[in-house]
Amino acid sequence: MNEQTHLRRIRSFVRRPGRLTPGQRRALDELLPRYGIDREVADLREAFERAAPLVMEIGFGNGQALAWMAANEPDKNFVGIEVHEPGVGRLLKSVDSHGLDNVRVAMRDAVEVLADQVVPGSLDEVRIYFPDPWPKKRHHKRRLIQPAFLERLVGRMKPEGLLHLATDWAPYAEWMLEAIAEVPSLELVGNPYVPRPQWRPQTHFERRGEKKGHEIVDIVCRIRPSG
Ligand SMILES: C[S@@+](CC[C@H](N)C(=O)[O-])C[C@H]1O[C@@H](n2cnc3c(N)ncnc32)[C@H](O)[C@@H]1O
Repeated sequence: MNEQTHLRRIRSFVRRPGRLTPGQRRALDELLPRYGIDREVADLREAFERAAPLVMEIGFGNGQALAWMAANEPDKNFVGIEVHEPGVGRLLKSVDSHGLDNVRVAMRDAVEVLADQVVPGSLDEVRIYFPDPWPKKRHHKRRLIQPAFLERLVGRMKPEGLLHLATDWAPYAEWMLEAIAEVPSLELVGNPYVPRPQWRPQTHFERRGEKKGHEIVDIVCRIRPSG
């Protein structure tokens, strides 16, 4: 089985039916044609009207953090990837109401987006906040962060680019560090964790984790220049 087949077979999400509010439905109908990225686009950068550093957030959930980051870092272009329709609807409403021209959305499996729509060396930063922890051992294979996935990400990123992960699930944090250690072109910035960088706001799942008493950790890696 080659890497491509392996990555495509095991999904890191389950499509939850999740009810769409009428506002989210309308946002998908009216705003996705404007801010969404078609599957046919072979280079995500084409979806923007200007050239700018490109940041990708994978699994943005309800999109609150993404909208906040895009508003706070107006000199960067942001691509959000999420499969959960109500979350995409919420983000689109927020992008539109705040007039955020620097956000585009791919409502598709991030593994597929990376394989088909991201040119090598085109991403400056990738942010993945509170990916599903899949706590049961038999589900660990569903975790998004795996060495093969990180290898693919790294291939799409610029040398010196930054990968930023956060989790509230201690065993997943350990797992992330082990996966990172298997990818020679990734270099940890922290020791091993970093204090929450100022560019990351609190997220919905982070607040849920905190209420349960979980410790939150941030992991930042840099792509080695030779990687
Ligand atoms: C636990 S939630 C975290 C959401 C948000 N980042 C937060 O902190 O509130 C993880 C999200 O990742 C999305 N997701 C998981 N695997 C994905 C994939 N392969 N492609 C796109 N989205 C994915 C899920 O749909 C879910 O909304």
